[in-house]
Amino acid sequence: MSKSEKSWEKRLSGQIDELAMDFVESLSFDRRLYKYDIVGSIAHAEMLAQQKLISKAECAEIKKGLVEISEEIASGKFAFNKLHEDIHMAIEDALIRKVGEAGKKLHTGRSRNDQVAMDLRLWMRDEIELQQTRIGSLQKALLKLAERHAEDIMPAYTHMQRAQPVTIGAYLLSFVEMLARDRRRLGHCRELLNVCPLGSGAVAGSTLPLDRRVTARQLGFADITYNSIDSVADRDFCAEFLFDCAMISAHLSRLAEDWILFCSTEFSFLTIDDKYCTSSSMMPQKRNPDMLELIRGKTGRVYGSLVGMLTILKAQSSTYNRDLQEDKIHVFGAADTIGTCLEMATAIASGCRFNTRPIAGGMDRGFLDATALAEYLVGKGIPFRQAHGIVGALVAECEKNGQRLTDLKLERFQAACEAIGEDVYQTLNPLQVTRRYQTEGAAGPAQTHKQIEYWKNFLHER
Ligand code: ARG
Repeated sequence: MSKSEKSWEKRLSGQIDELAMDFVESLSFDRRLYKYDIVGSIAHAEMLAQQKLISKAECAEIKKGLVEISEEIASGKFAFNKLHEDIHMAIEDALIRKVGEAGKKLHTGRSRNDQVAMDLRLWMRDEIELQQTRIGSLQKALLKLAERHAEDIMPAYTHMQRAQPVTIGAYLLSFVEMLARDRRRLGHCRELLNVCPLGSGAVAGSTLPLDRRVTARQLGFADITYNSIDSVADRDFCAEFLFDCAMISAHLSRLAEDWILFCSTEFSFLTIDDKYCTSSSMMPQKRNPDMLELIRGKTGRVYGSLVGMLTILKAQSSTYNRDLQEDKIHVFGAADTIGTCLEMATAIASGCRFNTRPIAGGMDRGFLDATALAEYLVGKGIPFRQAHGIVGALVAECEKNGQRLTDLKLERFQAACEAIGEDVYQTLNPLQVTRRYQTEGAAGPAQTHKQIEYWKNFLHER
């Protein structure tokens, strides 16, 4: 084909430029929208028939042709040709070749501008559900681990310095909590995007009597969009989806960072399955947590996609511009990335082991019981600020002498504060400390069990 046979480009000279053709096409990446494009077209054809813009027979032919095309694409038999630019033109062209005249009527009252906006919304609705299921699987894997370690303790760190004792269960549930927000955030995104732009045409709607509510209902949208000019250009949902993906990546990267550290010889808190480690080409002893590092590293792509999308939208003139075609690169890329990262994290969490004994054995270091001691003093009537000072001085002294707080004699405690009694030694044991946590949502075993119950019910229903 030296001259373009594109029916929609009769106005142009029809000269083909290879470079331009490659540059403008989106078929290489938007073909994954094909199912949505086809169900959208079927709904559109049915509406056209209902409005007597095409005959029932033509509608039937169109539907039959579209179903066949769908099957051909699904089975890999469909011959994609980049000359068609995008999935919309590829399908329409195939339809016309299949059913002739009737096929030429499908695009009545429609533009690729409203068509692609609708396709992407339909795709994203399903994609969000898939991602939510993946998040749920990771939550379940973490919950299972948390159940196993509801009473085992570990140090919590703030500023990467030993802070207070917590249960391993509570630590793990902190990620379940983050992921729950991610899941809800995606749900909110889905709710907002679930409106149908079809019928907005290229920008101004149509002079034909289209019934937009019919197609919207048919496609399961909650409503139609209410301004055709906005409808063809609105990609807020893409930016929002990408933000949600970026947040998921942020959470996964934090989990990955923790676990990479936990796998180090210095920490030795965690052992992950050999399957999720690699070795070194040079150092035979190595067991590297590459999967976790990649989960952390891939965050870069997802953040990049969010910034990429926002940049596409910035100062774009009203209304549809071809710039918007780039939306899919970012949206698909980020969705794929968080999809595999969620699956990888689930696999790792399902097959890892917290080394409870060495963790518990190391709880003596770092004065994890200092805050509990200060609160013990509050219980004896000492103002907290004063208690803080007393304990701070004791910690400094212990550190100098290579002692733990529990090593101090009762006389030494009483010299620091008369109110201290024999019962102080119960306070000082990190395991005891976790059992004394009283506040709702605290990181002790009682609260951990409560949270586990909550999440078991919650995740079971989903
Ligand atoms: N492939 C295009 C996209 O992804 C479809 C819309 C093109 N519309 C147009 N008038 N050129 O945005």
